[in-house]
Amino acid sequence: MQKALLSRLDGYEIRLCSSDDIPEVITVNMLTLPEHYSDYFYHEILNDHPQTFIVAELDGKVVGYIMCRIEYGLSHLRRFGLARKGHIISVATLGEHRAKGVGSRMVQHALEEMGKVGCKEAYLEVRSSNDGAIKLYEKIGFKIANTLQSYYKDGEAAYLMALQLG
Ligand SMILES: CC(C)(COP(=O)(O)OP(=O)(O)OC[C@H]1O[C@@H](n2cnc3c(N)ncnc32)[C@H](O)[C@@H]1OP(=O)(O)O)[C@@H](O)C(=O)NCCC(=O)NCCS
Repeated sequence: MQKALLSRLDGYEIRLCSSDDIPEVITVNMLTLPEHYSDYFYHEILNDHPQTFIVAELDGKVVGYIMCRIEYGLSHLRRFGLARKGHIISVATLGEHRAKGVGSRMVQHALEEMGKVGCKEAYLEVRSSNDGAIKLYEKIGFKIANTLQSYYKDGEAAYLMALQLG
């Protein structure tokens, strides 16, 4: 099946996810993050938000992914406003493929797609100890908008980071 290519980065193909990629996406998630989801959840996100579910592939193998949801609700950037928002639910690159720009490229593509569907802001939650990911988001322009105490099951706090789009 022809896969929808977004860009190339050295040998990596950054492209839209398809349903047959989901098992590999789940493997990347299991190897990289403590937060896991049911198979159904991945398929539901892909079905509802296919343009912001992106994978990085090298030599036919999925080595990274980002999945997002488009939402409408309270702005994280303005005190009393509602906004259409792109929510980065999960992003990961397999360890041996990190620090090559793959993560940033996937985030950038997702942000572009959010802009195209009218999102005014993007946001995400990140563990307060996850210095690498926080650095990546800050480089792109995200700022810490809030601290969510005991957000994770193990009690760790999350930073809610947000970015104005467009
Ligand atoms: C966070 C993550 C997705 C970054 O993926 P990546 O493909 O390495 O990202 P990039 O190569 O585009 O890195 C971009 C920038 O992020 C920062 N960064 C990323 N990982 C870093 C780390 N471990 N330590 C320090 N800085 C890091 C750097 O500033 C880097 O830019 P530079 O290489 O020019 O210095 C990856 O480390 C990962 O999968 N981590 C485990 C899962 C995770 O924590 N996901 C985020 C959950 S919110």
